[in-house]
Amino acid sequence: MRKLYPARSLLIWPTLPLDVYFRSNSVWKPFPLDQANCRVFSLARQAIWNTCAALGLHPNDTVLVPAYHHGSEIEALLQAGLQVRYYEVNQNLEPEPEELQSLMSTDVRALYIIHYLGFPQDAAFWRQWCDNRGILLIEDAAQALLATLNDKPVGSFGHMGVFCLYKTYGLPDGGAVIADFPPPRPTGQSNSGSWRVFKRHINWLATRRKELGYFHLMLKPIQTNLNRFWNRINKRIHKEFEVGDVSSPPTRMTKFLIPKIVDEKTADRRRENYRFLLKHLGDMVPAPFAFLPEGASPFAFPIEVNEPRDFLARLRLKGVMGLLFWLNPHPSLPVDEFPRSRLLREGVLALPVHQELSFENLQQIVDSVKEVQVNLAVPAIPAF
Ligand SMILES: Cc1ncc(COP(=O)(O)O)c(C=O)c1O
Repeated sequence: MRKLYPARSLLIWPTLPLDVYFRSNSVWKPFPLDQANCRVFSLARQAIWNTCAALGLHPNDTVLVPAYHHGSEIEALLQAGLQVRYYEVNQNLEPEPEELQSLMSTDVRALYIIHYLGFPQDAAFWRQWCDNRGILLIEDAAQALLATLNDKPVGSFGHMGVFCLYKTYGLPDGGAVIADFPPPRPTGQSNSGSWRVFKRHINWLATRRKELGYFHLMLKPIQTNLNRFWNRINKRIHKEFEVGDVSSPPTRMTKFLIPKIVDEKTADRRRENYRFLLKHLGDMVPAPFAFLPEGASPFAFPIEVNEPRDFLARLRLKGVMGLLFWLNPHPSLPVDEFPRSRLLREGVLALPVHQELSFENLQQIVDSVKEVQVNLAVPAIPAF
């Protein structure tokens, strides 16, 4: 194993500043939290599961879903008793109307689109497309809280819009849904969320203090490997897709922290950070993300590389904890029938872009990526 040198440790997940407890509650609420027909669960997948029934989707109804997906959203639909039929995304990561048309049959009741990495899809067009065929539009804005399309929030075009609060803010959990007919509020017991809050604080400190970042970088892979081992011995190989208890409300810490952490400037900060990275690393960015639309609220900064695992391992040694973006599809996907989605899964690395990053953090990302690119001629190192 290569020697680590002290470096700030940067994750793609937003961190939680220590001063958050002293902040006053914001009067501004982001969409959809400001809407009466919004419901908040612990996770977005639970929100999806509950809203399917509320919208009148019945067992064996079919939903057209993208082959390029996280996997948990697909699992939620299947657990709700629905059938999924996959479509391929085009070069802009949009569905192709002709392909969708060829997948239509009388049992198709909804189209599912994803606003990838906080970049808005043309949801207005897809709403019209669905209305013309009498089916529902489900907008997955899990990565796109705060994103807008023509000044309208994404997630507001569909019959259902679903969001992850913890992907945009350093919260322990939170999956919000807005729907024409929302489900009942979750009735389960709230967990405290303190341990995850503690970890988000540590992550915040590790982006600021090199000494802490150093330990963070050493401990993180151990934690990841222990989790993997634990899941394997418990035969939970698809744990990342599990829906869990569908009546789970958000944790008590999430409820307490939401009004303290939300900020009207968050999307601007993310766009600013994205633009900085685009300026320095733009030639590595996959085409659909190479231009930043005004209404985007980027969740991560994607780069395309030849040897993503090797690249990732080398970046980690420099303190940049990227993510192989959606490496594993849902097991129901016939992977070989969707070559573009497969290529995206195999080649796209996501880097941090969140609002808590400082200028030094962004510079560290740029320098690290450039150094790894130059050094790739050196023999590969094992992932730790
Ligand atoms: C596109 C997409 N949809 C849905 C989800 C599910 O979100 P959650 O983890 O809150 O259930 C995710 C999670 O990563 C996602 O990326």
